[in-house]
Formats: sequence, C-alpha cells, structure tokens
Amino acid sequence: MSEKKSPVTMEKLVNLCKARGIIFPGSEIYGGMGNTWDYGPVGVEIKNNLKRAWWKRFVQESENSFGVDAAILMNSRVWEASGHTTSFSDPKMDCKECKSRHRADNLIENHSKGKVNPDLMTNDEMEAYIQEHHVCCPICGKFNWTNIRTFNLMFETSRGVTDESQNKIYLRPETAQGEFVNFLNVQRTTRAKVPFGIAQVGKAFRNEITPGNFIFRTIEFEQMEHQWFCKEGTDGQYYEEFKKKAYTFLTDLGFDPEHLRFKDHDKLAHYAKAACDIQYLFPMGWSELNGIHNRTDYDLSRHQEFSGKTMTYIDPVSGERYIPYVIEYSIGADRLMLAVLSEAYDEETLDDGEVRNILKLHPALAAYKAAVLPLQKNLSPKAEEICAKLKKKFSITFDSAGSIGKRYRRQDEIGTPLCITVDFETLENGTVTVRDRDTMQQIRLPIDELESYISKAIEF
Ligand code: GAP
Repeated sequence: MSEKKSPVTMEKLVNLCKARGIIFPGSEIYGGMGNTWDYGPVGVEIKNNLKRAWWKRFVQESENSFGVDAAILMNSRVWEASGHTTSFSDPKMDCKECKSRHRADNLIENHSKGKVNPDLMTNDEMEAYIQEHHVCCPICGKFNWTNIRTFNLMFETSRGVTDESQNKIYLRPETAQGEFVNFLNVQRTTRAKVPFGIAQVGKAFRNEITPGNFIFRTIEFEQMEHQWFCKEGTDGQYYEEFKKKAYTFLTDLGFDPEHLRFKDHDKLAHYAKAACDIQYLFPMGWSELNGIHNRTDYDLSRHQEFSGKTMTYIDPVSGERYIPYVIEYSIGADRLMLAVLSEAYDEETLDDGEVRNILKLHPALAAYKAAVLPLQKNLSPKAEEICAKLKKKFSITFDSAGSIGKRYRRQDEIGTPLCITVDFETLENGTVTVRDRDTMQQIRLPIDELESYISKAIEF
C-alpha cells in the first residue's frame, strides 16, 4: 500500500454531497438503510453524464461495438451456467460478542495494513491467521469469532404467487451475463464479424458486507461493462488494447496519472488467462476502480452447455467454426462517480484569504454547463429569457439569490464550468460576461455566441 495520500477526505466529500444535492443517504427519514445512497438533483446529472461519456467512448465512437439493455431478472439457469450460484460468495465471520458481521479477508487486509493478500488464502488459512494474530472485532474490540462461513452474494426473490423453490430467481449481480446470452442475437441482427463488442450499462445487486466507504461498495449499483468477442490467439493483443483504452478514458476525464495504477490479479479465476484492475487513490487508499479480464471461451462455452444452444461462430470467409474468447472491461458507474468527485474536489485559498471549495469536473460531466445570474433582481426577465433559450440545448441553472460572489461560490462547489452574468450592459448591447470556473477570468460575449461557446467548452 502506497504512503501517498488522497487530496480529499471521505468526510469532506460526504458532507459536500449531502449539502449540495449530489448524494443523500438512502431512506434517510427512516434512519437510513446501510450501504444504499440516493442521487440528488446535481448528482443524477453528473452520473448520467458519466454514463453518457462512457457510452460515447465505448459504443458510439468504437468500431464494431453494440449496446444492449438486458433484463435484470434472468432465467436462474444463467447463474448456474456462470457459476454464481455455487461460487459467488464471501467468507464471513460473526463476532459472538456484538453480533456484527465481517468479511474475513477484510479483517486480514486491514490488520496487516495491506501487506498480506487474503485472496491467496484458503478459508482454513484465513482462520489460522486471525487466530494467530489475535485479530479483534473492529466494532467491539473483543476476540470471539464464529468459524468462517461462505455467504452467497446474490439477492434472491421468487417469481409468481407461490413460494416454491422452483420459482426462485435472482437480482443480477453483474450485467455481463446479459451480454453473453445475447451474443448470437447481436451477431445475427448486426451481421457483425468477430471481433466485435457488446456493451451494457445497468443496475446490479450484491448482498455485500461492507466497511462503509460511501458509494465505493454498495448493495445496489450500476455497472458499465463491455465484452469484446475475439478469436483465440488474438486475445492477448486485445487484452492489452483494452487496458490502454480503459486507462485513456480516465485520463481524458481529467484523472491525474499519479492517482492511477495497474494491479495484476495475484490469483486468477480458474477460467481466466489474465486479469488486472486499474486502481485509483481513493480517500481511503488505493482500491480497485475497474477490471479488465481475459475470460477465454469460458462464458460462451458454459452457456452453450447449459442452454443446449450453440454459441459457435462461423467465419464467413474461411468457414472456420469456433467459440470466441472474451476480453471483459467492467467499471462501476457509482465507483467511478466517487473517483471523479475525489479527483475534482479542491480547496483554493484566494488572495483575500477566503477559501474557495471547487469541483474541477471535466465540463462534459458537470451537472449544469452554465449558470445564468442576473446582477440585480430587475435584470431577471432578461436573464430568464437567455436561460430558457440555452436550456433547449444544455442543462442550465438559474440563480438570483444573494450577492454575485456567493452565487459564484455555490456554482464552484458543484462544478459548474461557466457563469453567465446578465448586467445593465446586456440591455444596451446584447452582451454578457462569462466567468470560467477554474481561472475565474471573465470575458464579454454577445448572447448569440453563447451556444457555440458552451458547446466547445464541454466537448469530450
Ligand atoms: N463482470 C465482471 C464483474 O462484475 P467485478 O470486479 O465483480 O467484475 C466490476 O465488478 C466493477 O464493478 C468493479 O471494478 C467496480 O467498479 C464495480 N463494483 C463491483 N461491486 C461493486 C459494489 N458492490 N458497489 C459498487 N461498485 C461495484
């Protein structure tokens, strides 16, 4: 674990998010519900922009990649084929004193300060480590554990009106399977030739026991996943390409390369040929932001076996028949949101000693592309007219309350890249001032040029 520190604390981020309508605790008026969060008016815009930026890069601008939006509830056989019903589990231990539940691997990781990798241990080895090092309960400080029990992370529900076991279905724990089961549908309807990709953005659910790092690990979250189907032998090259593409996406969004690093998996899943994460320096330390996996032909082969439907691709030129390999790139939208907010958060001390809190978001991600501010109340009608016109093209906010300085600060805090001030000159010559969030410099522009100016400023 690096000694390097994130520039922001989690507490500051959580407070800012709550105060500015970015993210609220879930079901708050009922005392909350652990590990659930609600996005507010500003947060939902930022998250939608993140998903849009991802889709633009990995579907719209990508050659031979296609989107799907598969059902969250899938035939239970899907999860048997994927292996989730038997092996998608965490090693849990209960504290017999305070009844709190913990993941044995987390206990070891925290106790050893990241020096011991529990992924390489069996359950027996983890139990032995916890005994030997007298790892106590982080809640009550006592040392009285149950043995490790494995705990399947899938949420179960039942279909229909009777509560019989054959009606058991699951909330999907990943979006990937919706892409695999549609491999033939997409290939047939797009006439795509291998290599090609299938992408999806959607909700996933995991009954996680988490240490509560805000939206880092939640029980309901969104994934953005892309599966690249290719021929065996070309998989190594595409694995490297997707590592590069995933990394460039982040640096193009404004991430400092010093806050990103690749981490190869120490232990590979039995079907995987290679796997790595891109880690980000989150407020709580270096942690996984996204994964890139070479999954071989495992997924399609398993679906062929369990469904009885062929997943064989026939090369239209050579006539060769094979089950494609898959390079998977997977990133959580909420986890990316946390990384983006951490990266963008800044506190600047101005010449007059005032501290300015600012979210230096890429303009394409900002909730509002511009704020329209009438200098005085009697300029509101003109400002409202400008605002209404711009709203046809962009997400724009209007603020007429308080001093202009306070209004600038409010916009800085939520990352609005431009503030458009309507003053008396606007009525005389049809120009406004446009203030840049990061430099605080102002220029004067004719109203008619605002649309093209904003379009250019928010390009991604
Ligand atoms: N299909 C592969 C897959 O789901 P994963 O490493 O389990 O792989 C991929 O998840 C990404 O989804 C992670 O890198 C992370 O960004 C996000 N993610 C996973 N579990 C999450 C959770 N409980 N809360 C928020 N994001 C999560």
